[in-house]
Amino acid sequence: MTKQIEINIDHPLDSGNLEMDNLFARALDMRNYAYAPYSKLTVGAALLTENGRIFSGCNVENASYGLTMCAERIAVFDAISHARKDFKAIAIASPNDKFFYPCGACLQVMAEFSPDLDIYLINNSGAFVKRKLKEFLPYTFKLEKGEN
Ligand code: THU
Repeated sequence: MTKQIEINIDHPLDSGNLEMDNLFARALDMRNYAYAPYSKLTVGAALLTENGRIFSGCNVENASYGLTMCAERIAVFDAISHARKDFKAIAIASPNDKFFYPCGACLQVMAEFSPDLDIYLINNSGAFVKRKLKEFLPYTFKLEKGEN
């Protein structure tokens, strides 16, 4: 497989857009709250709603490994439990020089609410990559008749 070429590399804290700067700053900060004693990979996520609010999450691991919850889904659940489900963008901050691409479970959960979501992946050296949710998951499981 050919290596994917990353685009839109820039500094996340100087995107030129205050709303995005705030979103990125929150995702980066949320890594500090992660509970990741097993993988040691602290992940932060921040979700921007259409009306400009930010909801957030960090990964929460468990001694029973399979119970671990990703930062992205916690951010979505934070928004939903505050009565917001109109998502514009999500920023996902990794603890190292890699970009953490959302897992399939998180993509399916995000697609339930915002199939056109913008996804920003941020690493710890201040670079980000912008993608669309549809690029990762062009087809989603839906229960409506004729949609699958
Ligand atoms: N993780 C996330 O929180 N989001 C991702 O996009 C990738 C993986 C977490 C789950 C687990 O706590 C750790 O990273 C290693 O998989």
